[in-house]
Amino acid sequence: MDNQKTAHAPMEFVIEKKRELAGAIKIEGIDANGIYQLLAVPQDNAMGDYCLPCFKFAGQFKKSPMEIAKEIAESFNKNNGGLACAEAVSGYVNFKYDKFSLANETLNKVFKEGGDFGSIGIGGGRTVIIDYSSINIAKPFHIGHLSTTVIGGALYRIYKKAGFNAFGINHLGDWGTQFGKLISAFKMWGDRVALEKRGVDYLTELYVKFHAEAKINPSLNDDARKYFKQLEDGEAYATNLFNEFKEITLEKVKEIYTKLDISFDSYNGEAFYNDKMQPVLNELEEKGLLKLSEGAKVVDLDAFGMPPCLLVKEDGATLYATRDLSAVFYRKNSYNFYKCLYVVAYQQNLHFKQFFKVVELMGKDWAKDLVHVPFGMVSLESGAMSTREGNVVKLTDVLEQSVSKAYEIIKEKNAGLKDKERVAKEVGVGAVVFFALSNNRIKDIVFSYDKVLNFDGETAPYVQYTNARASSVLRKLPKAVLDNLSAPITKGEFEGINNKESDLLISLIDRFPSVINEVLEKYEPSILTRHLIDIAKAFNKFYYEHRIINAEEAFIKPRAKMAYAVNTVLTEGLRLIGIASPKEM
Ligand code: ARG
Repeated sequence: MDNQKTAHAPMEFVIEKKRELAGAIKIEGIDANGIYQLLAVPQDNAMGDYCLPCFKFAGQFKKSPMEIAKEIAESFNKNNGGLACAEAVSGYVNFKYDKFSLANETLNKVFKEGGDFGSIGIGGGRTVIIDYSSINIAKPFHIGHLSTTVIGGALYRIYKKAGFNAFGINHLGDWGTQFGKLISAFKMWGDRVALEKRGVDYLTELYVKFHAEAKINPSLNDDARKYFKQLEDGEAYATNLFNEFKEITLEKVKEIYTKLDISFDSYNGEAFYNDKMQPVLNELEEKGLLKLSEGAKVVDLDAFGMPPCLLVKEDGATLYATRDLSAVFYRKNSYNFYKCLYVVAYQQNLHFKQFFKVVELMGKDWAKDLVHVPFGMVSLESGAMSTREGNVVKLTDVLEQSVSKAYEIIKEKNAGLKDKERVAKEVGVGAVVFFALSNNRIKDIVFSYDKVLNFDGETAPYVQYTNARASSVLRKLPKAVLDNLSAPITKGEFEGINNKESDLLISLIDRFPSVINEVLEKYEPSILTRHLIDIAKAFNKFYYEHRIINAEEAFIKPRAKMAYAVNTVLTEGLRLIGIASPKEM
């Protein structure tokens, strides 16, 4: 976290225990923020709630990490006012909270804050733009768009939760010579009935047909250029037809967004910048950054080990980069963003490096606030996904399949369940979303229905099922217990959760706000999905080892409070990644 962020954080919202701990650890030459970054979670929960590795300090203090750890632990224990207890172990300082206080504090906080637990308030209302999903008009929404859509959607919700003004932009791919081809093809062979019936699929066919025919008859390309020019000049025929294609595409894609609970604040895409590029090009010219190269206008990036950034072609046509460049100026001027994120596949790494560098060369200090959030490829178990015609795996089909498979599983597991269809939708869609968010985003991933729908795996159904179990426990509790859930736990009651299963669970729940913070620092929603899996696993262990409803009288309340906290945190965590929490399944 940078200083700016900390300065904006309204203190009453800063509820992260990790930050409080970092502030209480005093080490010469390193501030609380630096310590916060270094604090880690021990492998084994029994070692402590947090640990601080001291190896880095060895050079600075000219002492062994062991000695340093010992000194830090001693001074912490003298001065921390009972916050936690420190112990030096082989170059680490382990910090342990008092178990009784931690249990009470954590469980009561979750009870009081409910779904707001983890709303860390670090955003202070600052605007973060998230450019995600950003689909292409007249192209099918295939499984390759899954990651940008759900990673962007998760970041969007999590930024909002942390007090930022998240602003989602679908930077539509709605400009390019291909649309001249499409219009030309429609003019020649277009069939209205087919268009209305088969929408984007039909447009894809037309496009493919155009390519095949143009191979035989290259003059078709002139026709396409003519229509593209008309489109650029805003002439009625081409524009109206294009707008129709656009609407057809958006209508289909919005069905998917509804299923995935995804929304945008703007659909300004490439075409929106048609009339906004010249001022930026002028500024580049004035700053002497635009070079002529074989008739084209480029920004030379040789000094930075990159190929030149091509902005205007010899024929005067602008490019993807020209539009991204004018878009970012428009965004800065209109929204004055604190950060602007681009959730786009790693294949475009170079594009973003180049265009960010151009902004920097223009002397804009906010170039540092532009962030490319890359991710890996999704392929199907049955073979790599191809975007070539015929081989496209449409996301709608994947979602539908997943829902129908989920329905079969649910029918078998719980024949008596009411509302099976709704639950199957929540589980089937959730499984696909969770899958795309459960690995480090940069990894290439392989999709399989069996894997994502495995109720015992590290999947959405597993987390949902565990959460439904917690809901069911709460439903079955006597009213007297439920009415008394807000009451603190007494020393005697605490014995009901004074065991290692509870320790781990409490520690995981307590860390939820820090996880929210870490997701945003690393732009990595998988940190949250992994945490939800950890909580679900820990709760299942707890559930098998300790009775709740039939426990001895004094132990019912503390354990019920655990179930309540798990239910609250899992429900909120799933919501943040875009997944529903069925109460029964
Ligand atoms: N439409 C582009 C594609 O499908 C992604 C656009 C990403 N956003 C951006 N501002 N470049 O590859």
